[in-house]
Amino acid sequence: MTDRLTETARRRTFAIISHPDAGKTTMTEKVLLFGGAIQLAGTIKGRKAGRHATSDWMTMEKERGISVTSSVMQFPYDGRIVNLLDTPGHEDFSEDTYRVLTAVDSALMVIDVAKGVEERTIKLMEVCRLRDTPIMTFINKLDREGKEPIELLDEVETVLNIQCAPITWPIGMGKRLKGIYHLYADKVILYKPSTERRQDYDEIQGLDNPELDTLLGTQADELREEIELVKGASHEFDLQAYLDGKLTPVYFGTALNSFGIRELLDGFVENAPAPQARPTTTRKVEAAEEPFTGFVFKIQANMDPQHRDRMAFMRICSGKFEKGMKVKHVRIGKDVKIPDALTFMASDREHVEDAYPGDIIGLHNHGSIRIGDTFTMGENLQFTGIPNFAPELFRRAQLRDPLKMKQLQKGLEQLCEEGATQLFKPINNNDLILGAVGVLQFDVVAQRLKDEYKVDAMFEGVNVQTARWVTSTNEKKFDEFKTKAAQNLAYDHAGELVYIAPTRINLQMAQEKWPDIKFHSTREHG
Ligand code: G4P
Repeated sequence: MTDRLTETARRRTFAIISHPDAGKTTMTEKVLLFGGAIQLAGTIKGRKAGRHATSDWMTMEKERGISVTSSVMQFPYDGRIVNLLDTPGHEDFSEDTYRVLTAVDSALMVIDVAKGVEERTIKLMEVCRLRDTPIMTFINKLDREGKEPIELLDEVETVLNIQCAPITWPIGMGKRLKGIYHLYADKVILYKPSTERRQDYDEIQGLDNPELDTLLGTQADELREEIELVKGASHEFDLQAYLDGKLTPVYFGTALNSFGIRELLDGFVENAPAPQARPTTTRKVEAAEEPFTGFVFKIQANMDPQHRDRMAFMRICSGKFEKGMKVKHVRIGKDVKIPDALTFMASDREHVEDAYPGDIIGLHNHGSIRIGDTFTMGENLQFTGIPNFAPELFRRAQLRDPLKMKQLQKGLEQLCEEGATQLFKPINNNDLILGAVGVLQFDVVAQRLKDEYKVDAMFEGVNVQTARWVTSTNEKKFDEFKTKAAQNLAYDHAGELVYIAPTRINLQMAQEKWPDIKFHSTREHG
């Protein structure tokens, strides 16, 4: 089965992380352009959702096709198959982003040259660190004035606590931008702004080359001095340290002008990891194992308005997926046939004939698939690391038409399975309490209940400030806790017990009072 192993080894599955406005969308587009997946710049960019307005976001969601094409994009590059997974831009949907990051083998961090390391980058980096995800860095917008490159590396090292190994280095910036110097290929690539894909950059081999002085004037000597300094002050690229998540190779460029991208992509396919082993509750699954395994990390609704379907996105972890194959749906303990999985080649949804570890396939979901579900060839495995996060915001769902209770419950159950919101049912009353990480999630849920389930629901304030999943190994104490703390207990949509606290102080007091009970701020899906 060398075929399977060769295919696995050439997969590169990654996501782009950045603070809003640093250039993720532009970068995505340029990566696709250089990967030959789209022909024209502006294809993705022009459809970008409003970054701040709910209404814009909704409009984007209504144009469902867009979410499909930008959810997962696959393209060949230099003999490899690259899978780029999109992450939502708005921080209210950060849970989705975290889940997407569980399905990749590496990440690309985009930083704005003028702004440096920003708040969301820090958060996303923390998530990557949980699994030591290897990170490459692209410092963007070189066509503008920004911070000194050395200062930026220093900032990344100290704020993000990761070593930097510059691979390319800018020659000037803003109006003085002349090109980049590739430290390992020892060549200068001269800057030509363009919005299109290009391969025809003028290059000068060797830092000592006198041609440099002719072309760059005084900037040539400045560059030589700077490179000398950089080599002394920064880390050398070390593949193992990068793969361990301890060092990030750094590239410079401008996504808008398609410059520096080629060098980044070349380095990416060369060094970024092929599909990695994945943990389950019982053992690690190696990508090279022959039996097929995979897990669902995302569910998206109604992507095709004609079909009102829901799509479950599965990351393949081992083996080979073939059209029509039977796999075990571990949570429900049944074998299911997967007749018509989709792949995400370029911008079209295509039907999969076969797919390999690292690939993402889309399964039509009629309600039986949840986030976190594992599929195998029969072994009882459960992939881990796909968490639900304790919500920070809570609302009580109220119906305008009380006769629509059934539809409301059904709608909420389904939206929960997609991870769009979380639902809590107090054990002492019939409230339906929704939890979210970002406030926009409520607007989206209300809108979707209306559109898809014909339910007019309102959300009102509720006296809940925080929630924790509760477990205990001491059954007796747990039973006592369930009785005594009943007014604060609820079940989530998966039937797990949750402590819902009106204040943080209340939570703290409960924790002190019940030392035998564990209060968890995340729950594994499944
Ligand atoms: P995001 O997805 O991370 O939020 O960023 P996005 O790509 O939308 O980029 C944010 C803004 O930065 C956009 O400008 C984009 O054109 C610009 N940008 C991206 N890369 C570069 C670059 O290399 N140089 C310069 N100068 N600008 C860059 P905008 O005005 O907000 O949007 P638009 O009107 O151009 O779409």
